[in-house]
Amino acid sequence: MELLKEYNPYLEYKNGELHLEGVSLKALVEEFGTPLYVYSASYIKDRFNAYKEAFPEALICYALKANFNPHIARLLGELGAGADIVSGGELYLALKAGIPANKIVYAGVGKTERELREAIEADILMFNVESRQELEVLNELGKRYGKKVRIAIRVNPDVDPKTHPYIATGMRKSKFGIDIREAEKEYEYASCLENLEVIGIHCHIGSQILDVSPYKEAVEKVVSLYERLTEKGINIQYLDIGGGLGIKYKPEDKEPTPKELAKLLEPILSKVKAKLILEPGRSITGNAGLLLTQVQFLKDKGDKHFIIVDAGMNDLIRPAIYGAYHHILPVKDEGRQLIKADIVGPICETGDFLALDREIQRVERGEYLAVLSAGAYCFAMSSHYNARPRAAEVLVDKGEVKLIRKREDYGYIFAPSF
Ligand code: LLP
Repeated sequence: MELLKEYNPYLEYKNGELHLEGVSLKALVEEFGTPLYVYSASYIKDRFNAYKEAFPEALICYALKANFNPHIARLLGELGAGADIVSGGELYLALKAGIPANKIVYAGVGKTERELREAIEADILMFNVESRQELEVLNELGKRYGKKVRIAIRVNPDVDPKTHPYIATGMRKSKFGIDIREAEKEYEYASCLENLEVIGIHCHIGSQILDVSPYKEAVEKVVSLYERLTEKGINIQYLDIGGGLGIKYKPEDKEPTPKELAKLLEPILSKVKAKLILEPGRSITGNAGLLLTQVQFLKDKGDKHFIIVDAGMNDLIRPAIYGAYHHILPVKDEGRQLIKADIVGPICETGDFLALDREIQRVERGEYLAVLSAGAYCFAMSSHYNARPRAAEVLVDKGEVKLIRKREDYGYIFAPSF
């Protein structure tokens, strides 16, 4: 029981049945079917407020990529969040969700000219620029629009965030940002470009960071750059230190809190006059959500057990591509005997699994499983692979239930082709 609360304090078994914010998950699957994503609004609010409390002066730009359901974006916008965006689609969403343009920052190594133009037209707070060419293109566009385009340079501080290599972004070899050792030169160059206004420094070292110590090293490097730039008369008004705080996936994981991060960074940031920006994604929505799936078949091959469910790698791809662990529980807990099984989806790939060799209660065909920590990078990374309609999404808020994305149907998948 206690373990559940460590994932999400609004998650509990009541009379042997899993509930989120007081709502029976069984009732939800009966109403909306499976696979079904369910998110807790109270959890999202608590998480955002924890950032606000730990960093009261900072602008918290929620990283929309983690979960871009418009209702969730709107909820965070109403709490005062800005947005960290990475595409024209996310800009569109942020604005539609009511997030003011002056709270939007835009990262990404491959922004197209159309995307850059749209963001200039919207007058976003700043572009987190990732290459010299991007600086030049923005300068040219600024001229065309008769505007000074506000920019930060995304610097790559070359620190190891000790996370999965696919989501470590701040190491020299990665495609992101500009090498921090080259940064001063790039800042001098950018300052000379007439249609740019240099206002910030950006860095983001990676994602799912459970041990916060790499932030110290990264922010120290960034602050040292800030000081050098200030001496040169380059007026840095924003220090954007990215996102990345990890969440509990495995029962033994310990989540770092925004407060811990604030405490670690306080001595380094105390000499900085610029406004701080953070870009959390996963740590706000990750453990707000779970994925409900129905057991289709049970199959034994010798002493190997398979639990075949109706959620596949198209619904939740993290185990397949990062070998990610997601805790899985039966919606109905009857304290049954534990078995070890592979929990797999219906897709025609061996990589289509939610868990391998997982200890779980002996479940039956037709019952439901809850895949935890599924509020970030789960629905967001889902696809139509195998011509599968994407899942529905539901938001629960203190007993209230709102369908925030309808289940797709076959017609929806094929509409662009006919
Ligand atoms: N800022 C920038 C520039 C980013 O690239 C990211 C994430 C974030 C903020 C938010 O990071 P977070 O606080 O969520 O860790 N699909 C992977 C995660 C990819 C993260 C990409 N960038 C996964 O499922 O683990």
